[in-house]
Amino acid sequence: MTATIIDGKAIAAEIRAEIKAEVEQLKAKYGKVPGLATVLVGSNPASQTYVRMKGRACEEVGIYSVKPTLPDDATQEQVEGLVRELNEDPNIHGILVQLPLPSHLNEEAVLSAISVEKDVDGFHPVNIGRLAMKGREPLFVPCTPYGVMVLLERAGVKLEGCRAVVLGRSNIVGLPVSFLLLHANATVTICHSRTKDLPSVTREADVLVAAVGRPEMVRGDWVKPGAVVIDVGVNRVDDPSRKSGYRLVGDVAFDEVKEVASAITPVPGGVGPMTIAMLLQNTLRAFKYTLPDEG
Ligand code: GUN
Repeated sequence: MTATIIDGKAIAAEIRAEIKAEVEQLKAKYGKVPGLATVLVGSNPASQTYVRMKGRACEEVGIYSVKPTLPDDATQEQVEGLVRELNEDPNIHGILVQLPLPSHLNEEAVLSAISVEKDVDGFHPVNIGRLAMKGREPLFVPCTPYGVMVLLERAGVKLEGCRAVVLGRSNIVGLPVSFLLLHANATVTICHSRTKDLPSVTREADVLVAAVGRPEMVRGDWVKPGAVVIDVGVNRVDDPSRKSGYRLVGDVAFDEVKEVASAITPVPGGVGPMTIAMLLQNTLRAFKYTLPDEG
C-alpha cells in the first residue's frame, strides 16, 4: 500500500484564503481589523524564524501585527509588564509569547499574565484547564494540536471509537492533542520516553500522532497497515548535498511508513503550515469576540 499524502500546505492555504475573505468582510462592516502581537524574548534563531513567519502570514491575510522583542536578559517584570500593556491595547486582539522562554523566566507566570480573551495560543491555565475537562469549552485551542485535528477532519478520518496513540507528552503538542482526540471519542494512549516496548504500542494505533522531536524515530514496522500517521516533528539533520547544509525531517521515517500507512503527513508541508493557519484563525476568533454581533 502507498499512503495518501495529506497536503497540509494546500489545506493551510485554503484556510488562509477563507480567513482573508472574512477579515475583508469584517473590515468593510466595522472599519477594524484583527491585531496580533507575537512577543519574542531573546535571540533563539528558530524562534526568530517562527515569529517572522507568523508576521508574514498575518500580512498576507490582512491581520495587523506587531513583534515586540525583549533581550535575552529581560526580567520577569519586564516580560509581564509588556504582556499587560498588550492586554490593554485595543488594536491587539491576540497575544502570543513565543516559547521556549530563556530559562531564568517563569513561563507559567508569563502565560498566566495574558488576558484569557487574547490567549490565541491557548496556553493560559484557564484555557488549557478547560481543554482538559469534559464538557468545558476553552476560548482558544492551541494552534498545532488544532491544526492536527483539522487535518484529520479534512482528510475524512473517523476518530470515534478508534485507537489513537500519541508519541510525546509536551505541553505544546502531546498533551493538548491527546485531550482533543479524547473529546473526539478516540481511545487515547500517550507514550513517552519511559514507555516500554514502544513499537508494540504504536502498532496498535489506527491514528498515530508523532510529536517527540526525534528525527525519523518511527519506522515502517512500528505502524499498523492502514493506519493514519500525523508527523508533528520538525528536525534539522545534516545534509552536505544541500546549500544550507541541512534538511528538515519529521519524527517519522517517511519513505518506510508511507508504504504501510493509508495516509500520512509530509515534513515539511504537513502540520507546520497548519500551525500558522490556526494561529490566524484564533486571532480572527479573538477579534470577533470583541465585535457586537460576531462573537
Ligand atoms: N514554540 C513552539 N511551538 C509554539 C507554539 O505553538 N506557540 C508558542 N508560543 N511557542 C511555540
